[in-house]
Amino acid sequence: MYYNGSENNYRNLVTGVNSRIMTKDGRFVKSINFDNAATTPPFSSVMQEIINFSKYYSSIHRGTGFKSEFSSKIYEDSRKAVCNFVHCDYNQNTVIYVKNTTEAINKLSYLLYNKNKDLVVISTRMEHHSNDLPWRNKFKTDYIEVDNLGKLKLDDLEYKLQKYINTDKLVCVTGASNVTGYKNPIHKIAEMCHFYNAKIFVDGAQLIPHCPVYMNSNSNSDHIDYLAFSAHKMYAPFGTGVLIGPKETFIDSEPEYKGGGTIKLVTDDSVVWADPPDKNEAGTPNVMGVVAMLAAIKTLTSLGMDNIDKYEMDIYRYALNRLSYIPNLEIGCDTSPDCDKVAIIPFNIKGIFHETTAKLLSSISQIAVRSGCFCAQPYVQRLLKIPKSKINYYTKYPDCRRPGFVRLSFALYNTYSEIDTLANTLEYIIRTR
Ligand code: ALA
Repeated sequence: MYYNGSENNYRNLVTGVNSRIMTKDGRFVKSINFDNAATTPPFSSVMQEIINFSKYYSSIHRGTGFKSEFSSKIYEDSRKAVCNFVHCDYNQNTVIYVKNTTEAINKLSYLLYNKNKDLVVISTRMEHHSNDLPWRNKFKTDYIEVDNLGKLKLDDLEYKLQKYINTDKLVCVTGASNVTGYKNPIHKIAEMCHFYNAKIFVDGAQLIPHCPVYMNSNSNSDHIDYLAFSAHKMYAPFGTGVLIGPKETFIDSEPEYKGGGTIKLVTDDSVVWADPPDKNEAGTPNVMGVVAMLAAIKTLTSLGMDNIDKYEMDIYRYALNRLSYIPNLEIGCDTSPDCDKVAIIPFNIKGIFHETTAKLLSSISQIAVRSGCFCAQPYVQRLLKIPKSKINYYTKYPDCRRPGFVRLSFALYNTYSEIDTLANTLEYIIRTR
């Protein structure tokens, strides 16, 4: 059962993985991070690139100095590299830089609202709040239900696509759930959407760092129309995110943020907006963030996204196996081998509140996890089968203690021996409570 294999080859690529932190009984141990769905530590290549580039850093688009022109070129050329990374056609799409996935989705919601207030948005009940709330206050929204295990019901999607047959529609779906790790069949969903004349937006925050993603050519029936993701979840935590969509979405519309960089001409009483993407990136752009993301893309590409996927799923299966021997530990998602996933495991220990387990993992062994509902409350309510009456009670008393999960989310630098430490610590917690 215990792993005795070789060292993890990816480990030396990541900053801070060997930091020692004191436990509650005064030992200094290597901290373990199983909270990678929240954010990932930076690649060393990212840190190095930030230092290298800082010697040439300058404000872009506005200056005539060498550094400004150099910085502008790196910034603009990066859009093509981003397109290559997610396999989309640079000539058909616009890449907009934002702060993170949440900002990307809000931005898209405003852009689409300015163009078509009658759009129907079909989201799902497994979304992060960021792919739900930005749509709610602008459009008529409907939601694809999940089944008993929390997987998306594709027959419900088909039903909803037919229900709104005569309306412009956008289907907003996560590429992978930040709670269960389930990957959605985004290309199958895209085919269904396009068959019914709907467009598809994929929240790629939890997908992009873990496996190859193909937006594909806009002429393919299974292509992804819109994609968003965050660099801080892919080893480049310098405040950059990406929104990609077809060029026509971004032309002929007012930017939702206005100001420096967004215009061609301003007079006392008129404005001529710049072309996208400039129009959609108000203020001084985050060049350092883009440089960091570019370095992360280079490193991820050189490692091979398929190799990363394979390694992460190997440690995921190892973890599932170790956890399966622990009494009173209940896993909150489908664990069958054919389930298409990223390496995330939600669980609870019977009789111990999720937050208590999370705090004990930290204080006993310096294992970092997240607990609660992970900004996906409607989904967690379904996974835990919380009755409507209880949900109504929580609505009345939103600050009361509420059920949730402990979440393990793995990344390429995690090791089998870290999982052994986790399993041993969980057994200790159960034995001593
Ligand atoms: N959405 C991130 C998570 O799931 C922050 O932890």
